[in-house]
Amino acid sequence: MNILVSGGAGYIGSHTCVALMGAGHSVIIADNLSNSKADTIGKIMGIADKEVTFYEIDVTDTEAVDIIFKNHKIDGVIHFAGLKAVGESVEKPQDYYYNNLVSTLVLAKACQKYGVNRFVFSSSATVYGDNKVPFVESMDLLPTTNPYGETKAMSERILTDIAKANPYFSVSILRYFNPVGAHESGLIGESPNGIPNNLMPYVTQVAKGKLEKLKVFGNDYPTVDGTGVRDYIHVVDLAESHVAALDNLKAGVHIYNLGTGKGTSVLELVKAFEEANDIEIPYEIVERRPGDIASCYADASKAKRELGWTAKRDMIAMCRDAWRFENGQGE
Ligand code: NAD
Ligand code: UFG
Repeated sequence: MNILVSGGAGYIGSHTCVALMGAGHSVIIADNLSNSKADTIGKIMGIADKEVTFYEIDVTDTEAVDIIFKNHKIDGVIHFAGLKAVGESVEKPQDYYYNNLVSTLVLAKACQKYGVNRFVFSSSATVYGDNKVPFVESMDLLPTTNPYGETKAMSERILTDIAKANPYFSVSILRYFNPVGAHESGLIGESPNGIPNNLMPYVTQVAKGKLEKLKVFGNDYPTVDGTGVRDYIHVVDLAESHVAALDNLKAGVHIYNLGTGKGTSVLELVKAFEEANDIEIPYEIVERRPGDIASCYADASKAKRELGWTAKRDMIAMCRDAWRFENGQGE
């Protein structure tokens, strides 16, 4: 199939393009490079040994999106494009609501105009708010603490209503837990601008000596060792789930948690990183980070049952691959 991948130059999108081409699909990337680099496109093609069509456009731009649908027979859309920094979304709510909601509306509208009925959407475990773990797809969603989370919950509702109005529209809403790691080639991975917000990139930069030590945000949570627990998933496992989601699309809206189902604390991740890479990670315990919850992990059984997908790569592989990628980056 010809798959339009919005945000395909980004972290999860680039790995997914590789997985899609490995499964025989053709990929058309639409990305404005606001949080990615043009050379990622060449790296994707290098790993997959296949050509990619790239449009440097903003997917909130109706006319630019229309040109893509005119130029190609699109069979399905995977919509990754979005702004994703939780803290920034509190400071710039309008940018987040505009970019994340309008992009979803524009792509869904183009699908309607061109009769494309396959749509896969990147949502987030953040929509569960502070529900009781493990999170199950059938749970009522609790308010999130930031505009970013709201854009995900709202996009889910928009797509659900569109699917109600069009019985042929098939939507897969994928709620990602905490993607980490990188492609085993070391060519593509996550390279955040500035000081990383997320744990794994922070740890790899401490390992590299770019940052002095890790600040562990709180050790008084009701968890195994008091530090925050998350469901880390290898980005290549996550990428592969999109192929399964496309293969198993059916009419209506279907929601899937994409995680391993296993919670790991901050200190457990640090220990795994040290073991996997034989490097010490200095850390100090500091105050809790505002907005953080104690525990977040998936009940991942629905994706296994309905998509035939489960995460295969363990924490050691996640730490090893994250480190290999960091090491391959220039200073
Ligand atoms: P990323 O920032 O690496 O990738 C997003 C890509 O979208 C970037 O290449 C960026 O340039 C592009 N983009 C943003 N706005 C655009 C626009 N208007 N038009 C065209 N391109 C645009 O982020 P990621 O980690 O790969 O995340 C992909 C998706 O998954 C996002 O929707 C994100 O919210 C969601 N998600 C990510 C995580 C995570 O921890 N990484 C967790 C849950 C959900
Ligand atoms: N943490 C630290 N020190 C750091 C960074 C993080 O101790 O320097 C801790 C956090 O307190 C948390 C855990 O490490 O307990 C994971 O934090 P991340 O920032 O890596 O990830 P979050 O779970 O907070 O957020 C991520 C994405 C969000 C998404 C959410 C749920 O960044 O976009 O997962 O899927 F909404």
